[in-house]
Amino acid sequence: LENLNSLLFILFAGFKNYLPSPSREQILFHRPRGLQCISPLVQSVEETPEPIPARIKGHIPKWINGNLLRNGPGKFEFGNDNFNHWFDGMALLHQFQLAHGTVSYRSRFLQSSSYVRNRQHSRIVASEFGTLALPDPCQSLFGRFLARFEPLQPSDNSSVNYVLYKGDYYVSNETVFMHKVDPETLETKEKVDWSKFIAVNGATAHPHYEADGTAYNMGNSYGKHGSSYNIIRVPPQEPGQGDTLEGAKVLCSIPPMDRAKPSYYHSFGMTENYIIFIEQPLRMNLLKIITSKLRGKAIFDGISWEPQHNTHFHVVNKNTGEVLPGLWCSKPFVTFHQINAFEEQGCVVLDLCCQDEGTSLALYTLQNMRRSGEGLDQVYASIPRAFPRRFVLPLDVDSDTPVGKNLNPLPHSQAKAVKGADGKVWCTHENLHPEGFEKVGGLEFPQINYRGYNGRRYRYFYGCGFGHLVGDSLIKVDVETKNFKVR
Ligand SMILES: [Fe+2]
Repeated sequence: LENLNSLLFILFAGFKNYLPSPSREQILFHRPRGLQCISPLVQSVEETPEPIPARIKGHIPKWINGNLLRNGPGKFEFGNDNFNHWFDGMALLHQFQLAHGTVSYRSRFLQSSSYVRNRQHSRIVASEFGTLALPDPCQSLFGRFLARFEPLQPSDNSSVNYVLYKGDYYVSNETVFMHKVDPETLETKEKVDWSKFIAVNGATAHPHYEADGTAYNMGNSYGKHGSSYNIIRVPPQEPGQGDTLEGAKVLCSIPPMDRAKPSYYHSFGMTENYIIFIEQPLRMNLLKIITSKLRGKAIFDGISWEPQHNTHFHVVNKNTGEVLPGLWCSKPFVTFHQINAFEEQGCVVLDLCCQDEGTSLALYTLQNMRRSGEGLDQVYASIPRAFPRRFVLPLDVDSDTPVGKNLNPLPHSQAKAVKGADGKVWCTHENLHPEGFEKVGGLEFPQINYRGYNGRRYRYFYGCGFGHLVGDSLIKVDVETKNFKVR
C-alpha cells in the first residue's frame, strides 16, 4: 500500500504542476474543504516497458545511484467490468533508475494469472479484495447458479510491496502467492506458493530483515481447529540450499482470541531479540469471507471494526520461538505500519502509526477516490487520521510485580504501562508528535534508515502527511524532540 501511495505521491507531485499551486498555508495547515479532485490519479494507464527519461525538478545528488522500485494498481477495468476498490487494480511494477543525477522510468504489468485471465476474457474473472468476480454471462442460468458454490480462489495479483528473500526480489500482497520479478527488466518470473514450503496460507507484504539476509514474516494458517497467527523465518541464501523459500520455518503459532475471527494485520515489529505482534480489533469473519461468493459480497465485507475489544500485544522471542507470558493491552486502535521497535532497560519500545478507528479500509473505494467537490471533502473527513505513537512494554512482569504502578522506567518516554488486578499490563501511548500535528493530516507510510537503525534506538523517521486521501506532503519527525519538518 505504501508503495502505491508513494507512487501516487510522486505522480501527485507531478500532477500538481498542472493545477493551481496550493499556498504554503494550505500545505502546512490543511483545510478539509475544497480538496482537489484526484480522479486522474486513479485511472488505468498503459505500461512503459522501454525506459524513458524523467523530467527532474530540483537536484538529485550524483552519489544516489540505483533502482527505486515501486508497485501499485495500474488497471481498474476489463471490458465492461470495473473494480470497486483501490487495492483491486492490477499490479503495475515501476522502476525509477537513478544514475549520476538523471532518472529514467519504466513500468510493466505483473503477468499474474489474474491479469492474464482477465485480459484473455476481457472481463474480471478473478475476485479481488473489494470486487467479486461475477459468473460468465455466457453460461447457462444453471451454470451461473452453480458457479456461486465454487470456492473463492485467492487472486495472485501482487500489488502491495516488493519484498526480498535470499537476495531475490518478489512482489507480494497478503495471499498465499508471490511472484519473483527481475528488478532490472521488471519481467515476471516464477509464481511462488507459500503453502508449498510451510503450513501457512499467506504472509504479510512487510517482512523484516536481519543484516545477513534472514527474513522474518507473519502469516495466517487455517485448519480444522480454526485459524492461527504464525511467525515465519526464511534463511538467507546459503551454498547448497535451494532458492525461493526452501528452509523456511514456522517459529511459533499464536491462537487468535477468536479463532473464527482472527485480526487483520498488515505489519509487525522486530527488535534485536523479539517479534512484536499487534492483535487489533479489526477482525476477519472467516465464515463471511468463505461464503462471500455465495452471498454475492466482496471479501472486504467480511472485515469489521469491533472496538468493544481492546488491542493486544504479543511478544515472541525470535531466537527460541517462545511466546512471552505477559499480557499487554491498550484501548482499541488500528495500525497498518510500524515505524520501529527496540529494547531498552528490560522493555520493548514500539513505535506505530495508529488510528483510533478501523474504518479506513472500507472507505478507499474507487468511487470515493474519484469524487470531487463536497463529496470528496466528506470522504476525507470520514477517514480516521493516523498518528505516530510510542508504546513501552515492560517484559519482566510476573505475579510479584506491583499492581497500579507505572512500570515504564525510561526517563525519555511518557508512555505508561500499569499492571491491573487481572494481571494484564495496560499500556497508554506517548505521542511522537507535538500539538498541531493533526493539521498536516496525520502521518502514514513511515520509513527509517532501516539498515542502520531497525531494531535499535533511533532518532528520525519519515512519512507522508495526509492532507488528502493520498499523501500530499513529506514529513521528517525527530522522536527525541518531537519536532517535525514538512515539505
Ligand atoms: Fe503497507
